[in-house]
Amino acid sequence: MHDLVVRNISQLILPESSFSPLKGKEMSVLKVKENAAFAVKDKKVSWIGNDDEADSKKAVQYIDVQQKMVSPGLIDPHTHLVFGGSRENEMPLKQKGMSYLEILAGGGGILSTVDATQRASEEELFQKASFHLERMISFGVTALEAKSGYGLDRDTEIKQLRVIQRLQNSFPAAIVPTFLGPHAIPLSYKGREEDFLNEMIGLLDEISHKNLAEFADIFCETGVFTAEQSRKFLKAAKSKGFGLKIHADEIDSLGGAELAAELEAASGDHLVAVSDKGIKMLGDSNTVAVLLPGTTFYLGKDTYAPARRMIDNGLAIALATDFNPGSCVTENLQLIMSLASLKLNMSAEEIWNSVTVNAAHAIGLNGKAGTIEVGKPATFVIWDADNYHYIPYHFGVNHAKIVYLDGNKIWERQKNEKFQLSDSR
Ligand code: NIG
Ligand code: FE
Repeated sequence: MHDLVVRNISQLILPESSFSPLKGKEMSVLKVKENAAFAVKDKKVSWIGNDDEADSKKAVQYIDVQQKMVSPGLIDPHTHLVFGGSRENEMPLKQKGMSYLEILAGGGGILSTVDATQRASEEELFQKASFHLERMISFGVTALEAKSGYGLDRDTEIKQLRVIQRLQNSFPAAIVPTFLGPHAIPLSYKGREEDFLNEMIGLLDEISHKNLAEFADIFCETGVFTAEQSRKFLKAAKSKGFGLKIHADEIDSLGGAELAAELEAASGDHLVAVSDKGIKMLGDSNTVAVLLPGTTFYLGKDTYAPARRMIDNGLAIALATDFNPGSCVTENLQLIMSLASLKLNMSAEEIWNSVTVNAAHAIGLNGKAGTIEVGKPATFVIWDADNYHYIPYHFGVNHAKIVYLDGNKIWERQKNEKFQLSDSR
């Protein structure tokens, strides 16, 4: 006896977990089962088959999805979920032509969010992050990474990571925490960058002992941290057992991609300005290139990460929102899928693999999330669409209808979102 049978599925999206991420041409293959059904028992997928076999499956509950598509829960492998304040005041500055790094150099940008995050209480940060997280889940995201990095001092970094831990215990989603202490250099450390870096390295032991983060990350960029400083931090983190991530070559090409491959990082993220050598080295590695086209869009740039060249060179790509208060203010991973289609020229098959199995690899959830497989968690989304091409095509809105995590319904579109025409007349 199954707990649940989901049936009459137009397309069941079935990426499979594998030891390494899908690379290059492998990304263009997406397993899709038409007229499908599947069953759930004890939080796991217990059967997958044709819809006409579903009649013979005994279950406590049946859901007829009426020829809609079903996919694994989406995975957002790069977010800055926890922060204080907001930065709408930067919009006019951007419109006047001030660049992201200029705003940061003047003490704005990340540094103004650091100020707001330092001043916010743990409870305030938790409430605010909860609001954003609920919205992410409503877009079909059931697993995500969340970074610290708006503390730049011990107490605030730990405060952010404790908020992430509280979110993990309070919300139905898999949340993977990352320590991003070296995210910017506080103005008070101008000229003493190395001292600041050493302080952040000094926090690694405490964070590891308290089990507050699985990954360590650094912003390797002009005016922030050099490739050498990034190597020093990431090597220290690796020696203490952290998985590695790096904000690499977002604006300038500093060798961040090369470093990610050299240190066998789980992911190198951004990579808009990646060098040919960086592409080659990532192609020879299992490091996932996490692309964030929403950030390029939101920064108002015309040049996007060279996704096609990356795929031609055998890289593994994942897609993420980069949700944060400055360079990409959206929780909507479906919008990112549209931008990947329009701006990165990725096919729908490549895109779905990038927000499921490859995203799982980027945050250490391979085999635990991103698939619908017998024996694996029954974590899935029922969509308001009958085919997987439709989601990147129809952009900017939410197509998720019902979201399940471990066999439990965790979100459903409210019926009252429909217009009540007769009442309003
Ligand atoms: O990934 N580039 C560095 N960090 C974030 C932006 C953070 C912010 O502007 O608050 C990013 O784009
Ligand atoms: Fe980021």
